[in-house]
Amino acid sequence: MAVALIVNFVLSLASFGAAQYTNTSDYTQYVDLFLGTENGGNMFPGVVPAPFSMVKLGPDVEDGTTDAYSGYLPSGQIWGFSMMHESGTGGAPKYGVVSQMPVAGTVDNPLKDLGQNRSVNDTAMVGYYKSSLANGVDVELAATEHAGLYQYSFPAGNTSSVVIDVSHVLPSYRGLGWGQGYAGGHFNVSGNSYTGYGIYNNGWNLAPNWTVYFCGSFDQYAASVKTFTGNDTTLYSYDNTAVTNGTYRQGGVFTFDGANVTSRVGISFISCAQACDNVESEIPEGSTLNSIVSKAQDCWNDQVFSRVTTTETNTTVLTQLYSYMYGMMLIPSNRSDENPLWTSSEPYYDDIFTFWDLFRCGTALMQVLQPSAYEEQIRSIIDIWRHEGWLPDARSSDYTGRTQGGSNADNVLADAYVKGVRGQVNWQDGYSAMKTDAEVVPPNNHDPSANDSSTKEGRGALPDWKEYGYITPKFSRAVSRAVEYSANDFGLYQVASGLNMTDDASKYLNRSRNWRNHWNPEQTSLNSSGFVVPRYANGSFEYPYDPMQCGGCYWPDPYYEDTPWSYSFNGHHDIYHLISLSGDSDGFVQRLETFFEPGLYSSNSAYGSTLFNPGNEPAFTTPYLFNFVGRQDLSAKYSRHAAKSYYNAGSSGIPGNSDAGAMQTWILWNMIGLYPMTGQNFFLIGSPWFEHLNIMLGTNTSLTITSTGGNADTAYYVQSLKVNGQPWDRAWVTWEEVFASGGRMDFVLGTEPVRWANGTLPPSPASV
Ligand SMILES: *[C@@H]1O[C@H](CO)[C@@H](O)[C@H](O)[C@H]1NC(C)=O
Ligand SMILES: *[C@@H]1O[C@H](CO)[C@@H](O)[C@H](O)[C@H]1NC(C)=O
Ligand SMILES: *[C@@H]1O[C@H](CO)[C@@H](O)[C@H](O)[C@H]1NC(C)=O
Ligand SMILES: *[C@@H]1O[C@H](CO)[C@@H](O)[C@H](O)[C@H]1NC(C)=O
Ligand SMILES: *[C@@H]1O[C@H](CO)[C@@H](O)[C@H](O)[C@H]1NC(C)=O
Ligand SMILES: *[C@@H]1O[C@H](CO)[C@@H](O)[C@H](O)[C@H]1NC(C)=O
Ligand SMILES: *[C@@H]1O[C@H](CO)[C@@H](O)[C@H](O)[C@H]1NC(C)=O
Ligand SMILES: *[C@@H]1O[C@H](CO)[C@@H](O)[C@H](O)[C@H]1NC(C)=O
Ligand SMILES: *[C@@H]1O[C@H](CO)[C@@H](O)[C@H](O)[C@H]1NC(C)=O
Ligand SMILES: *[C@@H]1O[C@H](CO)[C@@H](O)[C@H](O)[C@H]1NC(C)=O
Ligand SMILES: *[C@@H]1O[C@H](CO)[C@@H](O)[C@H](O)[C@H]1NC(C)=O
Ligand SMILES: *[C@@H]1O[C@H](CO)[C@@H](O)[C@H](O)[C@H]1NC(C)=O
Repeated sequence: MAVALIVNFVLSLASFGAAQYTNTSDYTQYVDLFLGTENGGNMFPGVVPAPFSMVKLGPDVEDGTTDAYSGYLPSGQIWGFSMMHESGTGGAPKYGVVSQMPVAGTVDNPLKDLGQNRSVNDTAMVGYYKSSLANGVDVELAATEHAGLYQYSFPAGNTSSVVIDVSHVLPSYRGLGWGQGYAGGHFNVSGNSYTGYGIYNNGWNLAPNWTVYFCGSFDQYAASVKTFTGNDTTLYSYDNTAVTNGTYRQGGVFTFDGANVTSRVGISFISCAQACDNVESEIPEGSTLNSIVSKAQDCWNDQVFSRVTTTETNTTVLTQLYSYMYGMMLIPSNRSDENPLWTSSEPYYDDIFTFWDLFRCGTALMQVLQPSAYEEQIRSIIDIWRHEGWLPDARSSDYTGRTQGGSNADNVLADAYVKGVRGQVNWQDGYSAMKTDAEVVPPNNHDPSANDSSTKEGRGALPDWKEYGYITPKFSRAVSRAVEYSANDFGLYQVASGLNMTDDASKYLNRSRNWRNHWNPEQTSLNSSGFVVPRYANGSFEYPYDPMQCGGCYWPDPYYEDTPWSYSFNGHHDIYHLISLSGDSDGFVQRLETFFEPGLYSSNSAYGSTLFNPGNEPAFTTPYLFNFVGRQDLSAKYSRHAAKSYYNAGSSGIPGNSDAGAMQTWILWNMIGLYPMTGQNFFLIGSPWFEHLNIMLGTNTSLTITSTGGNADTAYYVQSLKVNGQPWDRAWVTWEEVFASGGRMDFVLGTEPVRWANGTLPPSPASV
């Protein structure tokens, strides 16, 4: 077995990037770890040994100007290899802590910049990462969920050093006050091992101090071990003192006579002892790198990749399929035995980054592809409310923040509820948590980026929401928050209905229509009239307000990260009212087609200057809205165009930030041929990429999607569809029809648009 695994490993290394590898149950061959690492995708290419693993071990690269959100940059110098990272995030880098840096020769001053260029590009596969430094040091990495293995090969004929700098943490150059800080720690050497902890703070979520413990060892005794303390300019001490402590930089330097050195390091949020237990139980002494890599690959194959199978043979498409699945499961991080804040029998997940990004496509796909982990994640956020009083919209380093718009955990909970997630979820508590968001004004955290109300949790603009039924410019992001608060209240309506709380249900259904209060029918733009715009306390609209402008489109502005044009296509639970305000069905189609017309909006020059920005979440649903007016053919057209134009299998293959995998989940839904309507139990029908795709659901059930007559570039129009063997005339299917106990969808595709979906239009529960 061990021999077979090593052969397997060597084979896949040798065939890295090539297609001839034949083990058909090893889907890791299709995962390109560098997909989406460039062009602002910010994907983490390092070792993530299991979905949602706490340890994410990889390189930290500096070029002195660029924020390395995941630690990785394609160019620049590597200045350490650290055990914790985020993937596909923005705002500011987080983590990059518990590092080692190999140095050829002895180290005069461990506080100076030890960064090294790479002699060749890094290589990676699932469970494995390798960097070759310009000074001849090779570094290979493998990991388990709470521990990492570093395998070094130093140039022969010289001593070999490894520097551990407790102060190592990813910096930010943006100057927005979101850079991480180092606030001291502890470093203790004993023989060939070391223990300690580091304290860090801040980052995008404005976190207070938090602590991570570590426990490392080497496979051999060092010729010399020194510890150091100092700051960026002065080395205070550099000797063999066993213990150092304080807020200055500190750490240790192990110098070996041998050229091949292996180190094992465990981490924990609880204690050094737990960090030591983690490494000893997961990577016992004598473990080989290959065995750890194989374990990670088996884990991803078993738990994730083998659940989705296809007859597709095009390796580009297979790379997209499996790399996107991988990329959506790197965060959140499962820290169930590693919660330093409270003791609970509930699971605990951190690194939600963020529900604002994930609620549309991400969490809905998580339920399909990872139902067990998904239920744990739902329980985890309710438990955070139980102990801290608030659901998170975003969270990392055990600290909630930030909230960009609404309290979107409400949408996530509603989606889980309507799609039947029960298990061990306490829905009375789940609803109480949502009700906190809907009723209690969160304390102002006085965020310098928008100090009018909380950016940490809940709904900061709730006072206006309750008083006026809209949000006045007294509050930042007033219009986009109002659009999101409507969806949040719709989520409360859904869960309250299910729990038979009829008064609450009708109250929140009414409130979910409040987005309408921002609609100024007089406001025109590009032959369309009626847009959501800023509105004052006296009831008047800001008029005129250019629907192509969102000011700085950021924290202090009336719209967050997208235009009035885009936000005026939201209100998805009330879409027929939106359509009536937009004219009629034809007017709505015309308005949608304007949104996708090239050349109208220079700010989106990366996307043909369409008003549609495929690189951000507020417009995720928009290409599919044609289904609500009987034009499923146009949904297929525009969604396929976006998928093919803005995504590819390369390192720049994600349009903008992955956003914790949100982008991956948008395109995965496109490949499947469905689109989720979060908070409701149905899916809009698109156009599948595959002749045969099988998605394993719970135990012994699956969704099978087939197509005939299709090809990616031209033949993607649905000609006809059967669902579970029955001819289908609706542009939507429910959770119950195809997911709850499995199902089958058989498409006929072709080059010509056909109005096949002339049956019942999709639901719009608030539009009565
Ligand atoms: C093929 O890959 C699977 C999944 O990684 C592994 O369990 C199996 O041992 C491999 N088979 C061979 C013959 O290498
Ligand atoms: C050992 O490495 C150091 C630092 O890279 C270098 O300056 C020195 O020349 C090397 N010594 C030998 C004997 O290669
Ligand atoms: C690293 O490479 C860059 C670009 O090639 C070069 O400018 C720089 O001097 C190199 N740094 C070191 C430490 O060799
Ligand atoms: C190395 O990476 C850079 C940046 O991703 C890429 O442009 C270049 O083609 C790569 N070189 C090789 C030899 O793969
Ligand atoms: C963080 O820790 C540092 C030193 O350990 C301390 O000086 C500082 O007050 C702490 N900050 C907070 C917010 O607790
Ligand atoms: C340092 O490590 C040694 C060996 O593990 C342990 O006995 C000692 O208590 C530690 N010292 C401190 C201050 O943590
Ligand atoms: C480092 O410490 C020295 C000596 O205490 C001090 O003069 C210097 O200002 C410090 N530098 C920094 C960057 O804190
Ligand atoms: C760190 O130093 C402080 C003050 O000198 C001391 O009280 C504390 O016990 C030390 N902590 C450790 C873990 O050594
Ligand atoms: C060191 O590792 C290299 C490859 O990583 C190997 O070729 C070499 O034999 C090893 N040397 C020793 C002394 O183990
Ligand atoms: C595989 O798919 C890619 C992306 O759709 C396409 O560009 C390529 O031509 C296909 N290759 C073959 C051999 O069909
Ligand atoms: C709600 O009421 C219906 C009809 O009376 C009942 O079947 C259902 O069990 C109730 N649900 C809850 C959560 O009480
Ligand atoms: C719907 O379209 C089908 C053909 O695709 C046609 O046979 C049927 O009569 C149409 N139904 C309605 C209600 O228009």
